[in-house]
This record gives sequence, C-alpha cells and structure tokens, in this order.
Amino acid sequence: MILEKIENRTAHAGVIGLGYVGLPLMVAIASAGFRTTGIDICPQKIERLKQGISDVPDVPNTVLAPLITSGQIQVTTSFGVLEDLNTVNICVPTPLREDRTPDMQYIVAAAEQVAQYLHAEQLIVLESTTYPGTTEEFVLPILNTDKNKNAPIQRLEVGRDFYLAYSPERIEPGNSTYYVTNTAKIIGGVTPGCTKVAETFYAQFINKIHTVSSSRTAEMVKLLENTFRSVNIGLINEVALICDRMDLDVWEIIDAAATKPFGFMPFYPGPGTGGHCIPVDPHYLSWKAQKYQYHARFIELASEINNEMPKYVVEKISHALNLQRKALNGSKLLILGVAYKKDVSDTRESPALEVIRLILDKKAEFVYHDPYVSNLSLDNKTTYHSKTLTADLVQSADCVVILTDHGAIDYNWLVEHAQSVVDTRNATRLVQIGQEKIIKI
Ligand SMILES: NC(=O)c1ccc[n+]([C@@H]2O[C@H](COP(=O)([O-])OP(=O)(O)OC[C@H]3O[C@@H](n4cnc5c(N)ncnc54)[C@H](O)[C@@H]3O)[C@@H](O)[C@H]2O)c1
Repeated sequence: MILEKIENRTAHAGVIGLGYVGLPLMVAIASAGFRTTGIDICPQKIERLKQGISDVPDVPNTVLAPLITSGQIQVTTSFGVLEDLNTVNICVPTPLREDRTPDMQYIVAAAEQVAQYLHAEQLIVLESTTYPGTTEEFVLPILNTDKNKNAPIQRLEVGRDFYLAYSPERIEPGNSTYYVTNTAKIIGGVTPGCTKVAETFYAQFINKIHTVSSSRTAEMVKLLENTFRSVNIGLINEVALICDRMDLDVWEIIDAAATKPFGFMPFYPGPGTGGHCIPVDPHYLSWKAQKYQYHARFIELASEINNEMPKYVVEKISHALNLQRKALNGSKLLILGVAYKKDVSDTRESPALEVIRLILDKKAEFVYHDPYVSNLSLDNKTTYHSKTLTADLVQSADCVVILTDHGAIDYNWLVEHAQSVVDTRNATRLVQIGQEKIIKI
C-alpha cells in the first residue's frame, strides 16, 4: 500500500509545475531515490529540462543533468502519467488578478487534471501559496467531480481511498544556507490519515517535519509567514521615510537596534517589494478575511507603503540630479539591478519596473545592467537589454541608481567612476572614497 511504497521508496512520485518551487522539490524527491516525473504545460521548459538545462539558479545543471540522464527524473507535458503516480505535488502559480483578488485558474487546471486520473492509494499535496480553505473547500470538490470517463462508480473517499494535504513551500530563491531538504516543512492534511501519509512522504527527503491540525491551518501558516515579512518591510520603509525627514540615517539605526539579542529582528528598507510572494500572498489573506467581514488593515497599509517606495526613489533621483543642476527630463540614468532582490534573476513584480515606468514618465533616459537579467520586458511592450558594466557606461550616466544590491558588483569601483549615486539598498556602505556622491534612501 502507499505507506509501504513510500517507506521503501518504490513509490512513483510526481510534481506538477516545474518553476522556482517545483523544480528544486522534484530534484530533492528524486535525490532521495524516488522515481520521479515532472509535469509542466510549457513545452519549451520541458525540452530544456530533457537536455538537463535548468532555468532555476538554485538547481544547477550539474545536479539536474545526471538525474535526467539516469532516468531517475522524467519530464513531460502529458498528464496521462498521473495514472501511474503514487504521489503528486502541485506547485503551480497563484498570482493576483488585476483587481487584486486570487487568480485560481492554475490550481483549477492542475486539480482538474489530477481528478481525471485520481486513483486509490494516491497522495495529492498542494504546495502553491493560497488562502486558508483552498485544499478542502476548493481542490477537494474538484477531485470529487466525475469528469473522468474511467471513474469508478463508487466515488473515492478522501482519507480512506486517497490522501489530500497542504504543505507550503518555503523556498527562498538564492538562499544557499536553507534549501528544500534542511528547511522544516509544515504539513496539514484534510484528515489525520492524510497528514500521516503526507508526513511519511516528506520525511523521506526533509530533515524536519512539523504537522498541524488541518490543511486550513497549514495554509494560514504560510500566509502568516509572508504577511509578517510584508508588514515588517512596510514598517521599516515607513521608518525610513520618517528618518529622511528628520535627517537621520535609517541604516545606522537598524544596525544599532539589531545589536539587541532579543525582541528585535532587522528588516531593511528598499525600493519596494517584489517576487511572486511578498507583494501577492498577503492579498490572498485579506481577500479571504473579507468573506468573514474582516478588513485586514495591516496588510493593506503595508502594501500601500511598499507600493509608494518607487515614487520615493524617483524623488531621490530627482534630488541627486538637482544637486548637479540637472532635471530628470533628458538626464541619462544607469539602473543597477532590475531583479527584485539580490543575486536572483526573478523580475516578477520587481519594484525596478515601477521605478522605470516613473522615470520614463518624466522623460529621463535609462540603460540598465543586471548580471542575472539579460532582457527586461516592460508591460509586454518594450524589451530592454542589460548593458555591459564598463567605466564608460558608469561615467556617462548623470546618476547611477542601485535598485538591487547584487553581490558581483564592485561598489568601490562603481562610486569611483560615477557622477552621482542613489543607493536604495545600502550597497555602498563600505565604500571609502566618494561618499559625498551617494544619496541613500
Ligand atoms: N518563487 C518563490 O520563491 C516561492 C516560494 C514559496 C512559495 N511559492 C509559491 O509556489 C507556487 C509556485 O511558484 P513558482 O515561483 O514556482 O512559480 P513559477 O512560475 O516559477 O512556476 C510555475 C510553473 O507551473 C507551470 N504551470 C502552470 N500551470 C500549470 C498546470 N496547469 N500544469 C502544469 N504546470 C503548470 C508553469 O509553466 C511554470 O513552469 C506559487 O503559489 C508561489 O506563491 C513561491
């Protein structure tokens, strides 16, 4: 039965959605000895993966390719393989619609495919970040529908015939200290039996498992974690705005406060939040809270402050140019870093996009350099290309704007050649010569 197959690692494991979350997960499962099949709707991605090429920096080709070559991992666009799978992890996107409500279309599509091939002794785990109740109130009814022409007359019962759980992914792209296998995993099943099967599965490849009482609880845990970050980033961004008015250095203040060994955790200001999680996930919670007649004020406020930061960055650029008797209109700006955070290539929801929109509105010219992002598409209209970082490029800019503090940049060299610098990340904190050229947020 399923527990036995999991424990002796003969279960055939599957992952649906092979992006930043699904790909590292698939590699972790396969590395524990499970025959693993990855399914993704993007044919180009599947072709690259078949050649052992990873799009996710946290999964190097040197790790992926041997697993593909040996057949330990197979990848496909075809969902028919679900018939043979004992375990299925769903890692599809959960974005927001334009009106900032949850866009559930990817979960629906994946769950409908699973429903077609659902069979006894199968474990289904949702990992996508979503609102409390999704697994039980939204995915389970899809699995229970009789779309499947081959469906048994007797419907499969959750917790008895098949198992359904929620386990939030805790991947932090670019973090080489904490990765899939050494980050504790939260698991909440729809029934206690579901929790047990899911726990047994994850225990094969993750060091520490923490089970909770239900899938709804597990969903809420993930939203607490991400809302905590969003709110604290919002708070420190607000403190940065206050410090600016008071002519205080917020970075010095945070460093000093961080010497307190208890009751304080440093968060840092910046040009705004980005990525698929922090600007998005808390809205899944506020949307659901509204169904309970509750208006989630902290979430909305943090989001408001974080979303205002690009405007503040543009004010700082304007100030830096003003000191040189220049206007934004017609000035040449060099944007350094367009990824949403240090040492990653992800530009989804990156605040750089909003900063660029705003400076273009003011008729400034810009080029960018990002060692991780060779092309940048703005609103699906214009594509920009990363320029090579040369002394000429830096010197020719009226202002260099550091939006992402990538580790590969030599900031001493940068400041030496720059006319002026707006630093939104305190990346230049160790620069010795030329501090007078730098304006920080
Ligand atoms: N990126 C992160 O740092 C992170 C961290 C924790 C949790 N999450 C959550 O994990 C989920 C996935 O995020 P991601 O960053 O991996 O997204 P992603 O866009 O990198 O990857 C999603 C993949 O799913 C595929 N896909 C979409 N619909 C599909 C379907 N119906 N069937 C099969 N494949 C499908 C896409 O082609 C893509 O390859 C989201 O809910 C996200 O909030 C992300």
